[in-house]
Amino acid sequence: MSFMKPDAEDVTNPRFRPWAKIASPAANYSQTHWDLKKRELAQPLGEKYWLDKGHTPIPSETFKPNTKIWLEIGAGTGGFFLELAKNHPDTQLIAIERCKIRSGRMIQKFVKSQLPNIQGFRGNAIPALITGIPSESLERIYILYPCPWPKNAHRKNRWYLHTVMPHMIRILKPGGLIIWASDQEFYIREATFVSESKYPLKTLYSGVISPNSWNALESFPQGRSSFESKFFSRQQPCYELISQKI
Ligand SMILES: C[S@@+](CC[C@H](N)C(=O)[O-])C[C@H]1O[C@@H](n2cnc3c(N)ncnc32)[C@H](O)[C@@H]1O
Repeated sequence: MSFMKPDAEDVTNPRFRPWAKIASPAANYSQTHWDLKKRELAQPLGEKYWLDKGHTPIPSETFKPNTKIWLEIGAGTGGFFLELAKNHPDTQLIAIERCKIRSGRMIQKFVKSQLPNIQGFRGNAIPALITGIPSESLERIYILYPCPWPKNAHRKNRWYLHTVMPHMIRILKPGGLIIWASDQEFYIREATFVSESKYPLKTLYSGVISPNSWNALESFPQGRSSFESKFFSRQQPCYELISQKI
């Protein structure tokens, strides 16, 4: 009996069926429709869970009316916000980082700088966003190189599919920005899709990262954060989304 090499494109062939189950990036993208409905239904339960958790104690006096406030979620060791604080003395910068070691370094840097306009907190940003920040108080939220949760089973953890996303919109001032960056193209495409189709957010830019008037990249040619510097030094492509609250 002669051996026939099976056609790898033939997904009806049982030998190749497992491949057919792996969503292509395009399929992954369109499945967000399905996910959005599911996420909507899960919202009340998600909120209930986080309401009980308590939040990072950001002092309420930080949120004075007419103050320009920028927030960084998952700030790592805080280098980017420290530089922004030096260059934007009229803006209050708040950085939240969950990891003990990274947040320790961040807080040490901020304290050493003696800058009055920067505050760093160790803690989970999720309960802080849900219960610790007043509505319409922030001008910008930065999310740089978040964990992309690439497995479909974990996608509910992606920031734009998480219970916290409606709260990010709530705490932004009208006209406020969410500035995302990732080395994962699918993450930025999906964040763009969800932001436009589900939330009152308009896309100002979505695509390959390059200097523009919102991302401050011009002042950081080596990269704004540790992860960005690592990706830039390896010439790995990076992507960004800049969304504005309508
Ligand atoms: C991939 S790192 C990127 C760090 C930094 N933004 C950079 O670009 O170098 C993601 C960071 O987000 C932090 N993080 C993830 N989830 C968080 C949460 N719920 N609250 C606060 N920080 C979080 C992690 O601890 C980690 O330091």
